[in-house]
Amino acid sequence: MTQSAFSRVAGVLQAEGVSAVSLANEFGTPLYVYSRSALTHAYHAYADACQGRRATIHVAVKANSNLAVLNVFARLGAGFDIVSLGELHRVLAAGGKAENTVFSGIGKSVAEMREALNAGVKCFNVESIPELHALNEVAKAAGKQAPVSLRVNPDVDAKTHPYISTGLKSNKFGVAFSDARATYAQAAAMSHLNVIGIDCHIGSQITEVSPYLDAIDKLLDLVAQIEADGARIHHVDVGGGLGITYDDETPPPIGDFVRTVLAHIEQRGHGHREVYFEPGRSLVGNAGVLLTRVEYLKPGAEKNFAIVDAAMNDLARPAMYQAFHRIEPVVDGSAKAELYDVVGPICESGDWLGRDRTLAIDQGDLLAIFSAGAYGFTMSSNYNTRPRAAEVMVDQGRARVVREREEVKQLFAGESILPD
Ligand code: LLP
Repeated sequence: MTQSAFSRVAGVLQAEGVSAVSLANEFGTPLYVYSRSALTHAYHAYADACQGRRATIHVAVKANSNLAVLNVFARLGAGFDIVSLGELHRVLAAGGKAENTVFSGIGKSVAEMREALNAGVKCFNVESIPELHALNEVAKAAGKQAPVSLRVNPDVDAKTHPYISTGLKSNKFGVAFSDARATYAQAAAMSHLNVIGIDCHIGSQITEVSPYLDAIDKLLDLVAQIEADGARIHHVDVGGGLGITYDDETPPPIGDFVRTVLAHIEQRGHGHREVYFEPGRSLVGNAGVLLTRVEYLKPGAEKNFAIVDAAMNDLARPAMYQAFHRIEPVVDGSAKAELYDVVGPICESGDWLGRDRTLAIDQGDLLAIFSAGAYGFTMSSNYNTRPRAAEVMVDQGRARVVREREEVKQLFAGESILPD
């Protein structure tokens, strides 16, 4: 349980034994705090369950792309899943290797493909016929063979929030299941593509294994057809998407999930193929909290507001997906408990972090927003010209800044005014 890195001692929240009060005082708020042991623990849960099988973990960089976070995984031997050239540069800067990196995404530009091919990425997860043509041209110009897998849309319901469900026919992602065999035949006929795998990613924050097994069944049926057509499929990429506990969700533990998927693939007679996982949230989500300070308590006619110094620009998930994040005072206090909406200072009614929360708090108190390690900082913005938060990582009782708090002058450093 990754959240155990954040526990209370004498009523004060700690991150790996470091008081969250001292972290906030030393580094300021809003502040993202990550636990190295929680990251390591989650990675091991995947890696241990893969023992003895040809299975590889590619960390989805988009969930948390801080160099220190990526470096923790790189040192553990992880591969990476990227969706932009920017993410490739982050992986390389963090000590990851291109040859352990898969390049996903629906709209890779020619420039991105060229650089990724030259860097030597392990596989391009291609999502359309025009993209196959573009990649083939790029590879031809470079005098190389581009390793490809097709992202197939298996048309299964991942039973998650519609914005983060990706494996349905109605979604923009992947090659339609009904077109996949023919698309593989086209790819195989292209001179500078080397078909090596098959891929899917059905959504995110998935709390059941059954949608994965349904998707895998469809993919493996397809593999048989593709191989009958003469291509060789070396790996099956099952994507990411395993959910975490934000509130009362009960996703399968990582190890159980991995073992079930691998056993299923083996039972279907495909145990010889390498299996790729692309987890993001389940590795980093509960390894991070966002600390924020209460600026004002504002009683209202219908509800009370706790106005805090973090906002939707720091953590967009509540505003974007009505996502729930547990919020607790950093120090158990003696204030009278009241019902609050926890909101930020941004000029939008959508700028809220938690609604209808019973909190015993005073002005100036610190709050911890849990499960903020995934899609927290990476989705943050500078809306309202708010500098982005600092990030720290705690490791065996020591905290280090892994990204400095932005300064206002950085925010318009690249801007200029017309001369006259
Ligand atoms: N692989 C691909 C191709 C993906 O598109 C994603 C996430 C992942 C792997 C990692 O999925 P994970 O294991 O993290 O669920 N911003 C949303 C989540 C968007 C997920 C996008 N794709 C949120 O905050 O809930």
